[in-house]
Amino acid sequence: MVVEIKKVGVIGAGQMGSGIAHVCAVAGFDVALNDISKDRIQSGLASINGNMARQVSKGQLDEESRTAALDRITPADSMDQLADVDLVIESAVENEQIKRKIFTQLCPLLKPEAILATNTSSISITRLAATTDRPERFIGIHFMNPVPLMELVELVRGIATEDETFEASKVFTRKLGKTIAVAEDFPAFMVNRILLPMINEAIYTLYEGVGSVEAIDTAMKLGANHPMGPLQLADFIGLDTCLSIMQVLYEGLADSKYRPCPLLVKYVEAGWLGRKTQRGFYDYRGETPVPTR
Ligand SMILES: NC(=O)c1ccc[n+]([C@@H]2O[C@H](COP(=O)([O-])OP(=O)(O)OC[C@H]3O[C@@H](n4cnc5c(N)ncnc54)[C@H](O)[C@@H]3O)[C@@H](O)[C@H]2O)c1
Repeated sequence: MVVEIKKVGVIGAGQMGSGIAHVCAVAGFDVALNDISKDRIQSGLASINGNMARQVSKGQLDEESRTAALDRITPADSMDQLADVDLVIESAVENEQIKRKIFTQLCPLLKPEAILATNTSSISITRLAATTDRPERFIGIHFMNPVPLMELVELVRGIATEDETFEASKVFTRKLGKTIAVAEDFPAFMVNRILLPMINEAIYTLYEGVGSVEAIDTAMKLGANHPMGPLQLADFIGLDTCLSIMQVLYEGLADSKYRPCPLLVKYVEAGWLGRKTQRGFYDYRGETPVPTR
């Protein structure tokens, strides 16, 4: 029997978690949105509000649906408020220790039949599942950024994921209007296995002085017909997330070709994480982004 999902808990109200809450609410699911502080939840809600308003102005959503969708999202400043959800989507930072801690705290609070999903970009679903009390009800539901705009979702089964969990996740993802690509549980799955080494190589190209930020991004936009340059995309993803994914690829596949570029490491150590901190390969403090190298 496939479990019917009506209420969704989202952990992490950053750029991905707020996007996931947004699409779930628009699709008619009740949502409880959790983060480490009330402020973070409020800023997540503010960005959902702004993004929905943009959809209304573009005619993609009517005002009534926007109000109804916002009403379906409840701020959950404590994890206890996730006790009645049918599905939790964990979308906190890309750090295995933090994710494990969240699952340890969360599992005893959940209904036994609740499905637990992670939006991890790269970490082993099997390994994360093994830290929970429900590996058979654990799955990777990997959304793309920005969630309301991007059509793809990668579904990733761990070794123990049961068919029922997989089927319920498929039904849920389709209700969000997304297209599913099924990936096996290998480091960084499919999209990031291909995309992140390209971004890392673009950072090496900058590091070695082959081209400037602007030249590299222009080259890939006009020379390879990419809608965004790789350095602009890295800033958009978040340089901390890019580095974590490269580390997972490097360690998980034990191949030196995935070695994170030292310049990426340095930017993350400086706290220059891209758009979310207003500085990465571009400076976002002015009206238009300015390349920094
Ligand atoms: N950025 C992308 O393009 C992208 C795309 C797909 C998937 N992802 C994945 O989504 C997840 C989140 O990424 P993001 O880009 O939204 O990052 P982000 O930095 O924008 O947001 C992360 C949020 O997690 C919160 N958080 C940290 N510890 C927490 C805890 N213990 N409990 C609850 N919340 C906690 C932070 O306060 C923050 O609000 C990561 O696993 C990432 O790999 C990211």
